[in-house]
Amino acid sequence: MVEQRTENPRVGGSSPSLATIHFLMPKLTLLNDGSVHEFEVGSIPYGGHGKPGSILDLAMHFNLPLNHDCGGNCSCTTCHVIIKDGAANLSEPNQDELDFVGMAEGVTDDSRLGCQTIVLGDVTIQIP
Ligand code: FES
Repeated sequence: MVEQRTENPRVGGSSPSLATIHFLMPKLTLLNDGSVHEFEVGSIPYGGHGKPGSILDLAMHFNLPLNHDCGGNCSCTTCHVIIKDGAANLSEPNQDELDFVGMAEGVTDDSRLGCQTIVLGDVTIQIP
């Protein structure tokens, strides 16, 4: 996490006070090769791969080898990932994802579809 301090004239009445702004810099870690990719939430341009900010969209931005045969439209399971750490830092699965992820090869209780799962904090994934 990067901390930036800045003066905010709207805080503190007649005398400016310091406000602390925290920019989230989550890390996407790929267990397969141990690579760690840090990014600012909302700062990576949407590449059109699944949902904006999804594991798949981030994976494509960082050139990670995550398949996506349906183009990120939640109609295959080739973007299947296993969440090894940080599940609480992800969006909740919607019904479409829940319907499809169970059909993924090698599915586990920690499986998600990369195209549907939005990253909001540190997460470690494995591509099965
Ligand atoms: S890319 Fe097809 S379901 Fe995610």
